[in-house]
Amino acid sequence: MSKILIIYSTTDGHTKKICQRIKNFLTDGNLVELLSLEDSKKVDLSNFEKIIIGASIRYGKHSKELYKFINFNKDVLDQKKSAFFSVNVVARKPEKNTAETNPYIDKFLKISKWKPNKISVFAGKVDYPNYNFFDKYIIKFIMFITKGPTDTSQSYEFTDWSKVDDFSEEFRNNY
Ligand SMILES: Cc1cc2nc3c(=O)[nH]c(=O)nc-3n(C[C@H](O)[C@H](O)[C@H](O)COP(=O)(O)O)c2cc1C
Repeated sequence: MSKILIIYSTTDGHTKKICQRIKNFLTDGNLVELLSLEDSKKVDLSNFEKIIIGASIRYGKHSKELYKFINFNKDVLDQKKSAFFSVNVVARKPEKNTAETNPYIDKFLKISKWKPNKISVFAGKVDYPNYNFFDKYIIKFIMFITKGPTDTSQSYEFTDWSKVDDFSEEFRNNY
């Protein structure tokens, strides 16, 4: 039985949904806590044996708060069995959906001083009806040039949930 902390950095909630799925998977045999990045600042990370952080991309970047959190907690993070994953829609493309081929993982590894034991990437969601006017049309334009869906009356979930479960299983078995 391990004490595991799962931290999510999200804007629209999809990364939290992925973290919830990982939590449900790992809860069998472990004590798992799920917290937002904001709430994680209030807990003592040294109380956990394993830490997973999931963070989404917005306009090409993970949040500044994510890097601040990592820098501030680097020493304690380095002592844990750990994993990081990014959520973005570039990862819906088969040629960009591994840690080795996704551009945002490459960026993360260049910026972050923390080097997690396991790194992954999951395709996120395009949720047009819930975007404001500006975001809706920027995302529609990006989808148009990258051959994605452009009907703004619909939501499109690209997440491969079996890949999320495989990530959880590998983390449980190897770390
Ligand atoms: C305003 C906005 C900007 C985004 N920018 C990017 C981007 O630059 N690259 C990308 O791959 N995905 C981008 N996305 C897609 C998000 O990463 C995706 O919707 C993800 O599921 C969001 O997760 P969250 O709900 O946890 O924030 C963007 C989404 C929005 C709404």
